[in-house]
Amino acid sequence: MTAVAPAKAALRARLLDWYDRHRRDLPWRAKGGERADPYRVWLSEIMLQQTTVPHATPYFLAFTTRWPTVGDLAPAADGEVMAAWAGLGYYARARNLLACARVVARDHGGVFPANEAALRTLPGVGDYTAAAIAAIAFDRPANVVDGNVERVMARLFAVETTLPGAKPALKRLAADLVTADRPGDWAQALMDLGSGVCRPRSPLCEICPLTYDCHARAGGAPETYPRRSAKAARPHRHGVAYRMVRGGEIALVRRPPRGLLGGMLALPTTDWRAAPFSQTEAVAVAPVRADWIDKGSVEHVFTHFSLTLRVLEAAVAADDAAWMWTPTSEAVASVPSVFAKALK
Ligand code: ADE
Repeated sequence: MTAVAPAKAALRARLLDWYDRHRRDLPWRAKGGERADPYRVWLSEIMLQQTTVPHATPYFLAFTTRWPTVGDLAPAADGEVMAAWAGLGYYARARNLLACARVVARDHGGVFPANEAALRTLPGVGDYTAAAIAAIAFDRPANVVDGNVERVMARLFAVETTLPGAKPALKRLAADLVTADRPGDWAQALMDLGSGVCRPRSPLCEICPLTYDCHARAGGAPETYPRRSAKAARPHRHGVAYRMVRGGEIALVRRPPRGLLGGMLALPTTDWRAAPFSQTEAVAVAPVRADWIDKGSVEHVFTHFSLTLRVLEAAVAADDAAWMWTPTSEAVASVPSVFAKALK
């Protein structure tokens, strides 16, 4: 990680020079020559782990307006943070986010630690996130490798081994390019190259600063990297969601703290299983006896399965301590996407 071979030094210079001219202006990113705020870097990295910059940006702006520092976020109520996270997915991440803010506030005096090992001890901060924060916020020479960087390495060096087995090799190739010179910019340059130029399906090799370094490009089919082993099909599940309405309000419930969509506000549902539910069965296991009307179904894709969620609706006069009557317009904004679809 100290000295790199001359060819690699030249490659590094080309990418850093490109970054100086084409870097994206992102709300968590420091301007050229400035140091980024570790809180904003951490928050952005957690939000960006499974989603795109355009999707995460409004959430990032809303969070940092409402909770400008880690000291503001730490005392926030769990339910408020979960509601603000609604729509970003991966809700265990929101729970860890709050746990991490509280640890930083309580055990670190509100200051994020600067080295990777200490960062990794924080809730929800794994190898990738620790490396990203160390590099971007503290300019430490950390090897920041996500799916984008794996793709760039697989193409640059025409790695024939398939993913996921190729991961350690791709990580070593990336490590060989990290030096103590501008490590934060280097990490972000790779991110910008991966997202805007070395794109998954249609790489823009004509404008790539590394086009003459790239072995996959020389081979004529860069878009076929990284190589992948055949993927197992995603299983499909069925469930029923119940819209209980009363005036302009709808009953929401809080899901159990652990497991999928844990701790989030939601519509009451059946279990999600392989076989579809008949109307008779859906009515029999409904939260309350009522005149249930079939409102059709919505489709949603989770990481490990896809779901057909049938929606039943009824006007309900009964009440239950577990039901939170919420104006329908407000409900859409405070539940995970699968339920927002079922509410529309
Ligand atoms: N994807 C993951 N982290 C990112 C960052 N800091 N900037 C842009 N895209 C990213």
